[in-house]
Amino acid sequence: QGHEDSAHGEHTFQESKTFTGTKPEIVPWTRPMPVPPVLRPLVSTAKQEIYQLSIERTTAEILPGLQSPVMGFGGQFVGPTIRAKTGRKTLIMVHNKMDEAANIHLHGGHVAPEHDGHPKDVIEPGRTRLYLYPNTQQGTTLWYHDHSHGTEAAHVYLGLHGAYVIEDESERALNLPSGAYDIPILLRDIQFDDSGNIVVFDDPSKRTVVLANGVPQPYFEVAARKYRFRLVNSANQRVFKLRLTGDKITRIGSDGGLLANAVETEELVLSSAERSDVVIDFSKYPIGSKVVLTDAVAGEILRFDVVRRATDQSRVPAVLRPLPAMPLSTVDREVDLSFVFKPNDRPDGVINGKVFDMDRVDFTIKRGTTETWLIKSSDPTGVKHNFHLHLVQFRVLERNGGPPLPSDAGLKDTIPITAGETVKVQATFTGYTGRYVYHCHFLEHSWIGMMAQLEIVP
Ligand code: C2O
Ligand code: CU
Repeated sequence: QGHEDSAHGEHTFQESKTFTGTKPEIVPWTRPMPVPPVLRPLVSTAKQEIYQLSIERTTAEILPGLQSPVMGFGGQFVGPTIRAKTGRKTLIMVHNKMDEAANIHLHGGHVAPEHDGHPKDVIEPGRTRLYLYPNTQQGTTLWYHDHSHGTEAAHVYLGLHGAYVIEDESERALNLPSGAYDIPILLRDIQFDDSGNIVVFDDPSKRTVVLANGVPQPYFEVAARKYRFRLVNSANQRVFKLRLTGDKITRIGSDGGLLANAVETEELVLSSAERSDVVIDFSKYPIGSKVVLTDAVAGEILRFDVVRRATDQSRVPAVLRPLPAMPLSTVDREVDLSFVFKPNDRPDGVINGKVFDMDRVDFTIKRGTTETWLIKSSDPTGVKHNFHLHLVQFRVLERNGGPPLPSDAGLKDTIPITAGETVKVQATFTGYTGRYVYHCHFLEHSWIGMMAQLEIVP
């Protein structure tokens, strides 16, 4: 279902068609997978780090030999990685150099409402806004992306995204692979037309080109030792089903940090915005081996080339760290994600029957309360949705009355939900008062209204 028309008449996105020749062919395994550079702070003390980050229009070589017009934090299609430490604040001065409003949201971050990148809190063109991330949560892999009202789907698709890693002392003490052996991989998809222009809004199933850190089918040279890969699904709407040729994957973390135990898995399911920290041990492979990461739909997406030996002092303890205890839940709510179809018009996305209104509060929550939410989708189309809650990490208690899926394990902020399913989750709303959104994280769905707002009150 195309959405070429503007959302709610507030924004018209002009697709720019720059290229007129023939789309260059992607030859697999000819380009290395880039590792997004770590953003350097202007100031770094034990208490805080101060950064500058631009939002700009730029170009990226996604197809070989073509510089595609994109958007990027720090002028990069995949933004720089921000590395933070628990207990040390991150302050970011974000400067919007574009000709349209944009903003930044720290996905999975426990931050005050005025720093959350609420859809209405945009940075106007030419302006700078200061964001404070307190990093009070435990070590985990988060990511940041645009969240501007009516434009987030196009902006993120065109590149406004990057990884945000929080490290903490107790995690460091586990001696997991670190430093040069701790690498974020942002996986997403994209569609090109026959001339090589990026197609922004069409049928998402036509986004057949899968990118690992911005490059289609790259190779990545590794040493014969353990690596920690922080996998982020940064696709607007897609569920990856990942496998490693001839081996299992060791999963150690989810959206909100380490799992209680390392888990070996054949297949890793990762819906949009979900994260999975994994360890792959290449020490069992002879030098010269090629190990391929595949997706059930896209096929081969990334090849690890084992090229050298290396010493390895890191370990993956079977027991990582216990998940926080779950307080008693005192409030029950239901959240229903759906489409509403209208004759001769694009559908609306709704939550509990309502299109998003950033001035309406849908749920009022008393600060400190633990709540149980039944997430469901009564969608008549049978399509998948993807529930995301800002501010807090939740736990999945049940899926369809039974146990959660392996991908629901640990601390979560995003979960896939298919029409007809029910998922029971529990969250405790600590810390801040104010307004936050929850929405379908298939961004073309939230864009057409599948978003709602809660307010936490004292
Ligand atoms: Cu990843 Cu409301 O966002
Ligand atoms: Cu949806």
